[in-house]
Amino acid sequence: MTVGIDLIHFATADYYLGLDTFAQEKGTELEKYTIGIGQEKMSIAPPDEDIVTLAAKAARPILDQINPDAISSVLFATESGVDQSKSAGTYLHGLLGLSPHCRTVELKHACYGGTAALQMACALVKANPKEQILVIAADIAKYDVDSSGEATQGCGAVAMLVKAEPRILAIEPGSGYYTEDVMDFWRPNHRTTALVDGKYSTKVYLNSLKQAWQHFVSQTGRRFEQIDAFCYHIPFSRMSEKAHKALTKVAGMTLDKERFFAQIQPGQRYNRVLGNSYSASLFIGFCSFLDNAPGDLTEKRFGLFSYGSGCVAEFLTGVIQHGYQDVLMRQSHQAQIDARTPLNYQQYLDFYYPTITDPDNVAFEVHNRGAYRLAGIGHAIRRYQRRA
Ligand code: CAA
Repeated sequence: MTVGIDLIHFATADYYLGLDTFAQEKGTELEKYTIGIGQEKMSIAPPDEDIVTLAAKAARPILDQINPDAISSVLFATESGVDQSKSAGTYLHGLLGLSPHCRTVELKHACYGGTAALQMACALVKANPKEQILVIAADIAKYDVDSSGEATQGCGAVAMLVKAEPRILAIEPGSGYYTEDVMDFWRPNHRTTALVDGKYSTKVYLNSLKQAWQHFVSQTGRRFEQIDAFCYHIPFSRMSEKAHKALTKVAGMTLDKERFFAQIQPGQRYNRVLGNSYSASLFIGFCSFLDNAPGDLTEKRFGLFSYGSGCVAEFLTGVIQHGYQDVLMRQSHQAQIDARTPLNYQQYLDFYYPTITDPDNVAFEVHNRGAYRLAGIGHAIRRYQRRA
C-alpha cells in the first residue's frame, strides 16, 4: 500500500507589498531583494485574515472534490497560533462543517510543523488504511519593522489530503532528521512578531541540512543521483540555492548550472512572489514545482527538506504518481497570486501592526475578500464569518 499526498492546494492573502515599494521606503537598492535574497513581493494578510481563514480557503477546493465526512483527522501545523489552548484545527473544523467524528489537533515547531503533521498523517493511514487526513500548514510571517527579517515576511496556507493510494505523491519509508537546541528564530508567548538572529539562522539551516541528509543516507541507503528534484524550506528563494549548493557539496556531486537549477527552480516561483509562509513554505514550493515544471514528472523522485528554527530538520523523499497532472489546482494558485492588490508602505503597516486598544473586543473592517473572514473578537471569543 502506498500512502501520501492525494490532493494539495494552497491559499494566500488578497494583498501584497512589492519589494520595490519596500526598497524605496528603506532607501535600499532593489537588487538586494530581487537578486540578493531573491524576492519580489510579500503577501500581506489584513487584520480580518488569520491562519484559520487562510486554512479554510486552502482546504475548501479539496473538500469540494471528496466526501468531507470521510475526513477522520485535521492536523493543523502553525507557528502563528491564535489561541494557547484551543486548536486552530477546531476553529477550522467548525468553519468547514466537518464530521463530529473527526479528531483535530494543532502542531508546532516553527516552520517544521507541517512536515511533522504529514509524517504523522502517513503513520495514521498506515495503521488504519480507512483514515483520510486533512493536513494543514498555515502561517503569517511577521517580524519587527526595520529588523533584518522584515523583507522576508509573507503568508500562506497549504491543505493536503493524506490517504492510501494517493494520486500525487507517495511518501517513501525512511527519512533523516536532526534536532539541536539553538536560538536562531523564536517568538515568546507575549510577542506577535518573531525574533531572529538572521545570519546565524542561515548557518544553522545549512548545518541541519547536512546533518539530516547524512542521517537520511544512513537510514535509507538512497543516493543523491536517485533523486530527480529537490524542494527546500524557502524563507526567501535564494536560501534554496544556498541549500542545494550545500547539499551537492556534502553529497560529493558536481552539477552543471543547467542541471543544478532544473532540480530546484520550478519550486521557487510562487515563494518569490508570496514571501515566507513558515510551515507552509516547503509545500507551496512543492506546488510551485508541480505547477511550473516544464516536463512530465511522473515517477520522478522528489527530495523534501524541512527546516524549523530552534531547531528541527527532516529530509524525506516521495515519488510522483501516474495521473498527478489531472488533480493539480494550478489555475486556482495562479489566479490568487494575480488577483492580489498592491499596498503602499503605510497600508502595509496598518494591516500588519494595527492599533488595537482592547484585544478581547474588536470589530475588523472588511478587507479580506475570501469566503472566510475573521469578523471580530467579542469577550475574547473569535467570530468567523462565512460568505457564499
Ligand atoms: N545587489 C545584489 N545583491 C546584493 C545587493 C545588491 N545591491 N545588496 C546585498 N546583496 C546580497 C548580499 O551580498 C547577500 O548575499 P549573500 O547571502 O550571498 O551573501 C544578500 O544580498 C543579503 O544581503 P545581507 O546579507 O546584507 O542582508 P541582511 O543581513 O539584511 O539580511 C538575512 C539577510 C539575515 C537572511 C535576513 O533576510 C533575515 O534575517 N531573514 C530572516 C531569517 C531567515 O529567513 N533565515 C533563514 C534561515 S532560518 C529559516 O529558514 C526559518 C525561517 O523561515 C525563518
